[in-house]
Amino acid sequence: MKALCWQGVNELSVEEVPDPQILNAQDVIVKVRLTTTCGSDLHLLGGYIPAMRAGDVIGHEFIGEVVAVGSEVRRHKMGDRVVVCSFISCGRCWYCENDLWSLCDNANTNPGIGQALFGYEPGGVFGYSHAMGGFKGSHAEYVRVPFADYGAFPVPEGVDDTSALFASDSVPTGWMGAHLGGVKPGDVVAVWGCGAVGQMAARAAMLLGAERVISIDRHPERLAMTERHVGAETIDYSATDVGAELRERTGGRGPDVCIEAVGMEAHDTGVQGVYDQVKQQLRLETDRPSAVREAIYACRKGGSVFVLGVFGGTVDKFPLGAMMNKGLTVRGAQQHGQRYIPMLLERMAKGELKTSHLATHPMPLDEAPKGYDLFKNKKDGCVRAVFHPGT
Ligand SMILES: NC(=O)c1ccc[n+]([C@@H]2O[C@H](COP(=O)([O-])OP(=O)(O)OC[C@H]3O[C@@H](n4cnc5c(N)ncnc54)[C@H](O)[C@@H]3O)[C@@H](O)[C@H]2O)c1
Ligand SMILES: [Zn+2]
Ligand SMILES: [Zn+2]
Repeated sequence: MKALCWQGVNELSVEEVPDPQILNAQDVIVKVRLTTTCGSDLHLLGGYIPAMRAGDVIGHEFIGEVVAVGSEVRRHKMGDRVVVCSFISCGRCWYCENDLWSLCDNANTNPGIGQALFGYEPGGVFGYSHAMGGFKGSHAEYVRVPFADYGAFPVPEGVDDTSALFASDSVPTGWMGAHLGGVKPGDVVAVWGCGAVGQMAARAAMLLGAERVISIDRHPERLAMTERHVGAETIDYSATDVGAELRERTGGRGPDVCIEAVGMEAHDTGVQGVYDQVKQQLRLETDRPSAVREAIYACRKGGSVFVLGVFGGTVDKFPLGAMMNKGLTVRGAQQHGQRYIPMLLERMAKGELKTSHLATHPMPLDEAPKGYDLFKNKKDGCVRAVFHPGT
């Protein structure tokens, strides 16, 4: 089959690779209908995620059709149209039973790397390095889906493929940020980043009752899209001081909940941003946390900051003093998709959650390297490139 392979930093190519097979009785094989790029893939492309090997198939967000079913699979049959969570989770361990699905103890087949990096390993993800299990990704014609009873979800009739595709990852990630960030009716919520994840976090905050949602980015087309399709207010951080603007718009108090949806490659033209760039390139710090710092300073006293952006290691100049003295709750997580996806698909079916506008650049899988160039460099208003492997 055809698949998009990581070949080295900023090097991708479409190659012929072996078709996946059922390896475990709980697997299904999904024939991919659509698969999309994610900001997380850009961190792979940039060489910021360790344990990638040339030839690894990337991609972790996909919808498709079940074409082979392992003997212990109970909830799926041939021909089912399913959207699959980007995180792979066993459904039976202590973490899965406590709704902490991305922390599953049984899905990461390569726990040693995560243990060395973080103390305990995170769960497994499709197409996201050998540190996250070395699973083959979804930018391919077929994918093996382990623990399919827990990770694959039937798509309700009436929800089209393009809309449902985003239930793999960006919609549940955004929802988790607003939910576990503690958004309550009446809150003011600020969201850094107007990519798919940030837009979905902003939408989730509204659906959870936030009175005002303020989204922050610098790309005019992303800001306009967030105003139009999500209904949030926006701030262009390249044109104004974000902290001062947020104080102004919140009567001097600051947002109740701040959600960071930017991650380790944050853009920052200030002195601290240059410092982060240099240190990251020299590998003296692994991540550039400008948006996290800004969120911590901007948040109201006693408020909550939720980090959705992916970070891989250590950062400098973390404002621990602001966190402590302002009594903040700071959390982060990889997405616990299995907890939210069925509810989110229902909301999509009811028309409460619109996602299809995120698919700005549909194209055949053969053109995926071009799609990544558009997405990485935010060219031509690209928010997500969506690949269809079929002819
Ligand atoms: N926690 C999870 O489970 C999970 C799941 C999916 C994605 N992610 C992460 O979420 C982040 C966003 O993903 P995406 O797909 O939306 O990516 P994206 O690249 O499409 O969007 C990121 C946005 O952040 C903006 N940005 C950059 N620097 C900024 C700054 N200083 N202030 C405000 N905005 C800034 C960019 O202009 C861009 O629009 C990535 O780090 C990704 O790895 C996490
Ligand atoms: Zn993703
Ligand atoms: Zn588990």
